[in-house]
This record gives sequence, structure tokens and C-alpha cells, in this order.
Amino acid sequence: MSPRATNYVKQNELYSEEKVEAKQCDLVKDDIPFEPETAQFAQFIFVLSGISPEHHGPVVKKIYDQLAPGAVLFLRDYGKYDMAQLRFASRGNQKLKDNFYVASDRTRRYYFTVEEITELFGKQGGFEVIEVKNHYRMVENRKESKTMHRVWIQARFRKPMYQNSISPELVLSPAKKEDSSEKSLEMEKSEDPEPVVIVQVEEEELIEETVSLVQQDEETKSLE
Ligand SMILES: C[S@@+](CC[C@H](N)C(=O)[O-])C[C@H]1O[C@@H](n2cnc3c(N)ncnc32)[C@H](O)[C@@H]1O
Repeated sequence: MSPRATNYVKQNELYSEEKVEAKQCDLVKDDIPFEPETAQFAQFIFVLSGISPEHHGPVVKKIYDQLAPGAVLFLRDYGKYDMAQLRFASRGNQKLKDNFYVASDRTRRYYFTVEEITELFGKQGGFEVIEVKNHYRMVENRKESKTMHRVWIQARFRKPMYQNSISPELVLSPAKKEDSSEKSLEMEKSEDPEPVVIVQVEEEELIEETVSLVQQDEETKSLE
């Protein structure tokens, strides 16, 4: 991990160690170097897509444990059928797994669906789902008269506010669920004060439109 990002934070004139502490860690290999349940919020902006899918569950668990009860996690990341994904797919030699590719700079790109993100953070991760939706953006490069059709996922999740902290595995594991059925039921029933919004992708239409844009834009290198 590069220390550049944490250095940027520390150099900001508003940075004060009394209020903020900037440290770096590898979310796959390291423990997060802060006391558990102390973070007031978390931002995952194009982070999870760079991590192999087999590590997604454990990384979400680390973040869950780090957040204080009631804290919100904000996420934006690549969505399935994003134009860059179709470019990877059309080249054919950069695919590692379904929806998972290696870019020419050797970094990884995973493309998520709304359902996957909802499952990962909500049902498996123990977060309350505030909102998960696709965010579409047409990015125009006027100089080159090119249009790029981006598909991103935008989401917010909240760590539940219950008093006795229950690990998400209590809900996931059938054996433990039986042992602690009272607590698990309580967690499953907990009502979110905000409605869940899930926007579905019109897949056929999106693929057709995006494939034709990809064909027009085969030479665009900036998409990765
Ligand atoms: C595409 S950059 C996005 C940076 C920033 N959030 C933004 O939107 O400009 C991906 C970020 O994910 C971080 N990242 C990727 N894998 C990581 C890991 N295993 N542990 C911690 N951070 C990771 C990288 O350090 C990098 O800062």
C-alpha cells in the first residue's frame, strides 16, 4: 500500500491528531490499526473492486468490526456491464473469473451487481441496507467526440444500533443461529428508519447499447 494517501491527509491544514488519525493498512492481510468499533463512518470509493472476490466477505467483516454502532458506510464502485468491463471482455485475455479482470497496470477490477453488494454487506455482512442502486453516467470526451457509458454501484449501509453487539456470523451460521435464536430474530426484525431502494438494471437494453458504444470506442485507453 502506498503511504501517499495518508500523507495527503496529514498535510491538510485541517488535519489534527486530536480529531483524526491517518494510518494505512492492507485490508486483506492486516488487522486495521485502530481500536474496534471506533470509526464514525467508512468510505469505500472504488476500493473493493480492486480486491479478489474471495476476500470481499472477510474485508467487509473487518470494516463492520471497525465501525461504531450506528455508523454509516458509503460505497461507490464499478457496476456490471460498465463500458470498461465490456472492453475487457471483448479483448478476451484479461479475464480472471466471472466479472473479474486484470488491467494492463496489473491492478484488478471486479464489476458488481446491486444484488451482490446487497448480499455481501446486508445479509452476509450484518449491515442494515439504507440504499443500493446503479448509477449511470454518460461521460463525454468532446475533444475526441467520444461517449463513455459508465455503470457504477452507489450504496449506503448502517451498522445496527443494538446494545449487545452481535457478530454477523450469528445470523449467517445455522448452528449458532439455533443457539442464539432470540438475538438473531431480534436482529433480523430490526427496522430501518429509511426505506431500502434497489434499482434493477434493464440488462438486455443496457448490454445492447453498451456493446455498440464499445465497438465505437475500441481505441479508448482511458477507460481502465
Ligand atoms: C482506484 S483507487 C481509489 C482511490 C480513491 N478512493 C478515489 O476514489 O480516488 C483504489 C484504492 O483502493 C485501495 N485498496 C485496494 N486494495 C486494497 C487493500 N487490499 N487494502 C487497502 N486498500 C486497498 C488502494 O490503496 C487505492 O487507494
